Amino acid sequence: MDRQRLEQQFQALKGANLALDLTRGKPAAQQLDLSNALDGFLAGDYRAEDGTDVRNYGVLRGIPEARALGARFLSLEPEFVIAGGNSSLTLMFHVLDAALNAGVSGSAWREGGPAKVICPVPGYDRHFALADALGMELVTVPMTDDGPEMDQVEAIVRDDPAVRSIWCVPKYANPTGCVYSPATVRRLAELPARAQGGFLVLWDNAYAVHDFEFPATPLTPIMPCAIEAGTEDHIALFASTSKVTFATGGIAFVGGSERFLADIEKRLSILMIGADKVNQLRHARFLKDRLDDHMRAHAELVRPKFEAVQRGLERGLGGTGLAVWTKPKGGYFVSLDTKPGLAKRTVALAGEIGVALTPAGATFPHGHDPADRNIRIAPTFATVEAVEAGVDVLTLCVKLAAAEQVGCK
Ligand SMILES: Cc1ncc(COP(=O)(O)O)c(C=O)c1O
Repeated sequence: MDRQRLEQQFQALKGANLALDLTRGKPAAQQLDLSNALDGFLAGDYRAEDGTDVRNYGVLRGIPEARALGARFLSLEPEFVIAGGNSSLTLMFHVLDAALNAGVSGSAWREGGPAKVICPVPGYDRHFALADALGMELVTVPMTDDGPEMDQVEAIVRDDPAVRSIWCVPKYANPTGCVYSPATVRRLAELPARAQGGFLVLWDNAYAVHDFEFPATPLTPIMPCAIEAGTEDHIALFASTSKVTFATGGIAFVGGSERFLADIEKRLSILMIGADKVNQLRHARFLKDRLDDHMRAHAELVRPKFEAVQRGLERGLGGTGLAVWTKPKGGYFVSLDTKPGLAKRTVALAGEIGVALTPAGATFPHGHDPADRNIRIAPTFATVEAVEAGVDVLTLCVKLAAAEQVGCK
């Protein structure tokens, strides 16, 4: 299509006063409604299964039934899980802070000078911001359909003793939606053995149960591989119910070996006397026998929105050679890669028409995508109709940005 026609379409849409938002990786209200029964679920029974009165102080590792729930997310035994407060991101902060300043399964990283963390890109902006805020240097490696590009990861870990960690979202990665392959999981589990100093694999399984196509894609559990490799003290596993029940009103989990958990517990004990065990108990009771059905109900709401994204991208960009995109079977995001140099302009053009997209570059450390090509699409919060309309605008803007680019040359 020529530039003039694209510009005419653009101007027509501009007059339509759209106000659409594809930026937010948040559950829609209908998804939140699935958990409304949490309200009052305890009905006055505040005793955990070990007799703990959950209204009182204490039990820093969490009540047994909440740890058992976390164990299902993390593929661990409950004794290797701490059930915490409402946010796994907060737990990640404390784990990295402890590793840097107090030592986790070894001496404090700060003793060895400035520490670096490997960031597969595109990735989760808050992971990058968190490590950056703690003074870590962010080293990028490309994501593949099987997970981080492991030849590069291994070479970096072998050659640079300042590299202490790697961010992983192993199932339905944010934003590509890929599931790490069994070989990648094994190589990641072996990584701490290759490192020259103390090392932690940060295993953020935020989308552990968030399948929307069945049979669900299995993820190889990392801990058995780590035990085989002798690296079990160097794996930090995280998950939460943020996108299962209420976002910011759920419970979060951190898992690992006993040595690892003891160091984390010591650190957490400085900050708190215990997490919200009332919330832990109502979540554990609510989800115990219904987790699978509950997640299928989420899937029914989420799948049509992802299908709308795929239809729209195919309709607008299929066969043009202007972009490639991922087709996740779960999680919250689709990742679109345009031809180099188009992402920022595309997002700006869409904004002019009233369609908010995640800022181009957000999926890279410091918000800088060197090739300016990645755009993260988050369809869950919008209605199916809004997703349809938003993706049509997005594809038009990719084509217009491409036409402008050619015109510039
Ligand atoms: C990969 C990943 N980890 C963690 C989070 C946030 O988790 P929480 O709500 O438990 O802090 C998100 C939210 O989008 C995420 O995408």
